[in-house]
Amino acid sequence: MNIPEREINPVTQMFEEAIGLSPGRGRLSGRHVLVIGAGQRDSDDEEVTVGNGRAISILAAREGAKVACADINQASVEDTARRVREAGGQASAHVVDVSKPEQVIQLIHDAKAALGELDGLVLNVGISHGLPLDKITPESWDLEHAVNLRSHMLACQTALPLMTEGGAVVLTSSLASQRPTGRNPAYETSKAAQLSLCKSVAMAGHAKGIRCNAVAPGLMDTPMGRAASARRPNRAVTVPFGRQGTGWEVAYSMLFLLSHESSYVNGHALFVDGGLGNGIF
Ligand SMILES: NC(=O)c1ccc[n+]([C@@H]2O[C@H](COP(=O)([O-])OP(=O)(O)OC[C@H]3O[C@@H](n4cnc5c(N)ncnc54)[C@H](O)[C@@H]3O)[C@@H](O)[C@H]2O)c1
Repeated sequence: MNIPEREINPVTQMFEEAIGLSPGRGRLSGRHVLVIGAGQRDSDDEEVTVGNGRAISILAAREGAKVACADINQASVEDTARRVREAGGQASAHVVDVSKPEQVIQLIHDAKAALGELDGLVLNVGISHGLPLDKITPESWDLEHAVNLRSHMLACQTALPLMTEGGAVVLTSSLASQRPTGRNPAYETSKAAQLSLCKSVAMAGHAKGIRCNAVAPGLMDTPMGRAASARRPNRAVTVPFGRQGTGWEVAYSMLFLLSHESSYVNGHALFVDGGLGNGIF
């Protein structure tokens, strides 16, 4: 299934960063970051298959940020916050169902109160029913779009007036925004629309110097990635560097976009796919 080897290997681009073992370098020193989708679905090996949201929560704290972690899965988001604290960081845990608009709005206010300030927002929640066109129902389509897209709009709409000038927003889109190969139209269209929303939020945030960018992961060995591979075993038969990506590799891309290192990068989609979308594999 092309599971990443957990050993350093330059030929497969496997470095300490890719397995979450690199020390912090103060890249988010003094920042206040809310991660929505900071838990991860249950998995057979949680220590190995870190999700994108857990990875960015731990990494942001390691790099000096205070973190608010939110998810629908209470046990999982509390686990993420515990891991942040064990690593010496500060974290609060918040339970939210982002398919409910009033809960998204309340969460933004709660997170700002917990953090003191809000200058970083990571919108990582995403679901996929994996239904081909002939199996989609109005209900399945609406739920996927409510979670993957509407909740992001509501979070940004609520957060922008509350955020500190010079802050940054990061959305989690997908390589699926560009390709129908997953035969998963509700997911693919929601991820494509996120890239447009990203530009709209960047435009709305411009007056306050708030940037908005998106990461678009390819085939990742996260719990969601493993569930997709279980549905379609040939999903990752051929992948760049002979392996799927890790949640840490997504998190490092988010870290760059959250940090002041990317101060002139705005309305951009950063594909974290090993080059797969460009035909490199
Ligand atoms: N894994 C991949 O191959 C891949 C590829 C491209 C993009 N992505 C994107 O990365 C993001 C994270 O994915 P992951 O692979 O870490 O998966 P994951 O399923 O482990 O994480 C998603 C998190 O969202 C939470 N969530 C689901 N519905 C929610 C709701 N209504 N309210 C609040 N929280 C809710 C889940 O509890 C879970 O903790 C998603 O947006 C996904 O679309 C993943």
